[in-house]
Amino acid sequence: MRALILDRYGRKDSLRLGDMPEPELRDRDVLVEVHAAGVNPLDSKIAAGEFKLILPYRLPLILGNDVAGVVVRTGPGVRRFKPGDEVYARPNQDRIGSFAEYIAMDEADVAMKPNTLTMAEAASIPLVALTAWQALVGIARLKRGQKVFIHAGSGGVGTIAIQLAKHIGAMVATTTSAANMDLVKSLGADIVIDYKKDDFAAVLSGYDVVLNSLGKEALEKSLAVLKPGGQLISISGPPDPAFAREIGANFIVRQIMRAMSAGIRRKAKRRGIRYAFLFMRANGRQLGEITELVEAGVIRPVVDRIFPFEAALDALAYVETGRAKGKVVIGGPA
Ligand SMILES: NC(=O)c1ccc[n+]([C@@H]2O[C@H](COP(=O)([O-])OP(=O)(O)OC[C@H]3O[C@@H](n4cnc5c(N)ncnc54)[C@H](OP(=O)(O)O)[C@@H]3O)[C@@H](O)[C@H]2O)c1
Repeated sequence: MRALILDRYGRKDSLRLGDMPEPELRDRDVLVEVHAAGVNPLDSKIAAGEFKLILPYRLPLILGNDVAGVVVRTGPGVRRFKPGDEVYARPNQDRIGSFAEYIAMDEADVAMKPNTLTMAEAASIPLVALTAWQALVGIARLKRGQKVFIHAGSGGVGTIAIQLAKHIGAMVATTTSAANMDLVKSLGADIVIDYKKDDFAAVLSGYDVVLNSLGKEALEKSLAVLKPGGQLISISGPPDPAFAREIGANFIVRQIMRAMSAGIRRKAKRRGIRYAFLFMRANGRQLGEITELVEAGVIRPVVDRIFPFEAALDALAYVETGRAKGKVVIGGPA
């Protein structure tokens, strides 16, 4: 089958469109014909080798962390899906590979596709919506009336996190540049800061939750936005000891992660703020709940551009610019 294949970490020319064997079906797997695949910054980071510590893949590797498509076959242990079902998923991190004609996934990672969405729209949702869910519902336990600051509201994660936080009943502040102000307001953001003009830390204070997806400077400045007892969640690092334990990291990796996050954990503690690093996980049950929110019109996808499969490398390059408005999607191989 056709696929976007990574042969070696860290080299631009080691990503290529080529042929790979069709995936093998395990007992509880569904085999899905890929109709569309969402692109994430994670794809390029994996290709660059940035995730070798957390995700030790064997190469060659098919990239792709989001999929929408049709079930074509099921393993003998599959209970929830049948051939012909339209589904979507963020495959388990150990079994990525949606930039291909077919992908096999455990049914536990899969949910029925929202019937109100096209395949491309559906493929834009799973990874970022699960991230927003696991941060705001899971870690923060965000409540009606609380104040949440979501960095980079016009990005893949931001566009969904704003809508989820508004649905919960929170007051939402976000940052973006002038060109995307109307977009984030249309998603429900109450306070929008143009990060090129204004300093968010000078404008916002007394917040319950911050969702950080930017670098070290934004992370540390976020402490000033939070009230004592507040929660700082970062999806862009640094990983903390709790995460190291969660992934069963060995002693050396645990020490590395402890050291990487020592500074922010110390500064947060001094202010009575909790710090947590989140690396989202595949979860078909949570994705099913997201399906309901999408079908109810609570969450709508924001798709910036759709690339044909043969232009998959261009799609990755566009996401790497960091300027996408919402999501970038690759159509399935013709
Ligand atoms: N740990 C996890 O589980 C997890 C999950 C998902 C994503 N992530 C990470 O989170 C980060 C964001 O992911 P994403 O998919 O949302 O990225 P994305 O869609 O590529 O983000 C692009 C958006 O970010 C905005 N932006 C860039 N710099 C900004 C700044 N300084 N202030 C405010 N907005 C800014 C851009 O708006 P302008 O064009 O207006 O600048 C653009 O709309 C990535 O590093 C990704 O790897 C982690």
